[in-house]
Amino acid sequence: MTYESDLHQHIRQLAAERGAVILAHNYQRAEVQDVADFVGDSLGLSRTAAATDKAVIVFAGVHFMAETAKILAPDKTVIMPEARAGCPMADMITAEQLVSWKAQYPGVPVVTYVNSSAAVKALTDVCCTSANAVEVVRSLGVPKVLFAPDRNLGAWVAEQAPEIEIVAWQGFCPTHERITPRAVMDAIDAHPQAEVMAHPENRPEVLALADAVLSTSQMLEYAKRSPSLEFIVVTEEGLLHGLAKAAPGKRFYTPSPAPVCPNMKLTTLEKVRDCLRDMAPVIEVPEDVRVAALAAVERMVAIG
Ligand code: 13P
Ligand code: SF4
Repeated sequence: MTYESDLHQHIRQLAAERGAVILAHNYQRAEVQDVADFVGDSLGLSRTAAATDKAVIVFAGVHFMAETAKILAPDKTVIMPEARAGCPMADMITAEQLVSWKAQYPGVPVVTYVNSSAAVKALTDVCCTSANAVEVVRSLGVPKVLFAPDRNLGAWVAEQAPEIEIVAWQGFCPTHERITPRAVMDAIDAHPQAEVMAHPENRPEVLALADAVLSTSQMLEYAKRSPSLEFIVVTEEGLLHGLAKAAPGKRFYTPSPAPVCPNMKLTTLEKVRDCLRDMAPVIEVPEDVRVAALAAVERMVAIG
């Protein structure tokens, strides 16, 4: 038995002893995805956390994802293998900044991307993920919306729902922001038969080159169903592991250099084992913040 398969087995045994479900985001390391009970996008992971009957949720992802699980499942113990794994985009708007921004637009509802802190969600009318942002914004039935923190997702929603004025906060994902139109065009030149799938966190100039703009799990479905045999995947490289499993025999390429989210990569198999062994670090959300954020997150989970 190899070191890795030994560790994998040990983790599965600890998970059974602790009554734990292991959730992993599509950008996690391949071996972390393989040890999980469920691998998905932000929407799928939130729904799974809300529905699980297990007492413990191990969240292999970034901090806002584990917080969202705790908001939806307060009676569960939520632990994270690497609690320092944050999301720089989520840190680009604070609760204080949101309060003063809202004050400039009285009566205008706030849609917040799930990539945000619990304190920001608590000041929000409804949350969304990349999988349902357009539907969530339309569900409000209003002519104008404040959208935070991702300016690129905000621009994408504005393009899809031109009847609604979107006022976007100027946050962004550094991993996606670094992807240039030139890099995508070079990939298209190298693989002219490939379809281009891009995540809406990319810049508008990059999304303009895409055949399909999709969340990470939507890309898995799209690649499975499409008759195409080759795809250029314009998002974090961890998704290629899931794509190879979802659509064996098809070929997947990222633009060069391959986009990597350093925060997602902080979680290792050893840390998954240690957190199950020690039942730490535990993710908590202050109860007043949790209750204030719950309705916005529940609406997110219900839409799309
Ligand atoms: P998905 O919800 O599409 O998986 O995206 C989450 C994320 O953080 C993308 O950078
Ligand atoms: Fe945050 Fe970007 Fe990493 Fe997603 S890929 S967790 S948005 S930094």
